[in-house]
Amino acid sequence: MSAAAVTDAAWRQLHDAATAPYQKAGQFTYHFARGKLGRDPVFRGLIERGLIGADRRRVLDIGCGQGLFASLLSSMASMQAAGRWPAAWAATPPVADYTGIELMPRDVARAESSIGHLQPTPRFVCADMCSAELPASDLVVILDVLHYVDLDAQEGVLRRVHESLAPGGRMLLRVGDASSRRGFAISQWVDRTVTRIRGHKVSPTWGRALPDWVALLQRLGFKVQSIPMSEGTPFANVLLVADRTG
Ligand SMILES: C[S@@+](CC[C@H](N)C(=O)[O-])C[C@H]1O[C@@H](n2cnc3c(N)ncnc32)[C@H](O)[C@@H]1O
Repeated sequence: MSAAAVTDAAWRQLHDAATAPYQKAGQFTYHFARGKLGRDPVFRGLIERGLIGADRRRVLDIGCGQGLFASLLSSMASMQAAGRWPAAWAATPPVADYTGIELMPRDVARAESSIGHLQPTPRFVCADMCSAELPASDLVVILDVLHYVDLDAQEGVLRRVHESLAPGGRMLLRVGDASSRRGFAISQWVDRTVTRIRGHKVSPTWGRALPDWVALLQRLGFKVQSIPMSEGTPFANVLLVADRTG
């Protein structure tokens, strides 16, 4: 089998394993999980690019929704323990200590009823990221969340993330690039629609152009690398890999 065929097969296994637990929470939650993990390039992109890191054990997922990343971490650990991890993929944490922070009680309930049984038990905190205590972490993941709060609040969250990260810690932050008007407008529209369907109260609105995101992160003490991360979608999403320096 070619290396690409091996990783494609491994991704299909991961996709099935990480989404299967959501069947317990009903058809909507299950199909939402399958669609999100299958169609959003970010999850496989993080793995293929080796951005997670086996040593980053304490994981904080801000705006975690129904906890898909926790399920993925657990499925990745199981595949590695079973010796079914492709040689082309860098290892991810063999045991992750996961905390998810999520504003919407309904999402937290879905997460807990679907993957609350995993070992080690993922911890879900129903709280506003702008005021929630952020635990000491090695990896902070914030995917498509910051645009729900205004620019000052975004900066406040990022400053506290920087403080909570251990030396050598990493933040994986996906944002929309507001300078790409069409892609940003499409993602805002989709987010608003999904937000309404899922019964959310807040609407996502606040964006920055990519150079402004990078400048802000550098000012806060991060070393930043940006990677386009909307392949196969009409969005203008960018993944910012922000490492704590010092
Ligand atoms: C577009 S979803 C992304 C979910 C998840 N990060 C993912 O990629 O699958 C944005 C999530 O951020 C959450 N959120 C929005 N504002 C928040 C806040 N102030 N504190 C915590 N979570 C928030 C929303 O409820 C929603 O679940």
